[in-house]
Amino acid sequence: MTQETIDLLQNHRTYRQFDKDYQLSDLQLQQILDSARQAPTWMNGQLYSILVIKDPQIREQLVSWNPGNPHMKDSSVFLIFLADLKRTQKVAEDKKVPYRVGESIDPLLVATADAVFALQNAVTAVEALGLGSVVVGSIRNNIDEIAELLHLPDYVFPVAGLSIGKPIVDMQIKPRLPQAAVVHFDTYQDYDYSLIEDYDATMKKFGELRETKNWTQKFADTFSRPTSKKVDAFLKKQKLLD
Ligand SMILES: Cc1cc2nc3c(=O)[nH]c(=O)nc-3n(C[C@H](O)[C@H](O)[C@H](O)COP(=O)(O)O)c2cc1C
Repeated sequence: MTQETIDLLQNHRTYRQFDKDYQLSDLQLQQILDSARQAPTWMNGQLYSILVIKDPQIREQLVSWNPGNPHMKDSSVFLIFLADLKRTQKVAEDKKVPYRVGESIDPLLVATADAVFALQNAVTAVEALGLGSVVVGSIRNNIDEIAELLHLPDYVFPVAGLSIGKPIVDMQIKPRLPQAAVVHFDTYQDYDYSLIEDYDATMKKFGELRETKNWTQKFADTFSRPTSKKVDAFLKKQKLLD
């Protein structure tokens, strides 16, 4: 049993193409949701919510904004994990105390982490059921439109979506960076840049079709472009940052 879980985790792969006719049973969905809700959570705060999106019109709309992720409608179900500081705002209101979460980034970070822990538990549950999933962080590209479409209240931030379904293609396990560039024992150890370049070679050999650039170029380009301030503005609008 233990080795089964270890194997499951070490064989993780993202799947993006699903059987459009495959229906997830209510029991399967419930198992995924129950697994997500049992994730560790800061101070037992459970500062997240999960949207289960089945409505074809909503899913169609999400894809029209983000056509690179058609599985948002072709999968069996689409979940969105929200960092949710609304519940505790209701508590503050009820107790007639100030609600000061916007004064620091820390509450938002812990709520986002809570949402991500729940999401990762869902990913693992999906794989244990013999199904596949893809995390969709690019929902944040249309964050304002999505918040309106899904009626998100103040103090709520959509962290990522998760398309879940029955994969129709096999995928090879994607190699990771060398351990020495990622894992440190006792204190942070600097490492040779060549380890990072080694990963370019590993990924080139792996030949992932959807990658148009090597790993180093992808991140040189991504982190040298001017950063969009859309999410920052959204967080202010949601009262999550002053
Ligand atoms: C926060 C986050 C956001 C992601 N967003 C997307 C996305 O918008 N579209 C997509 O196709 N994959 C997305 N992914 C999946 C990653 O591309 C994938 O996990 C990564 O390439 C590693 O591949 P693997 O999961 O198959 O090992 C996302 C993953 C994470 C963790």
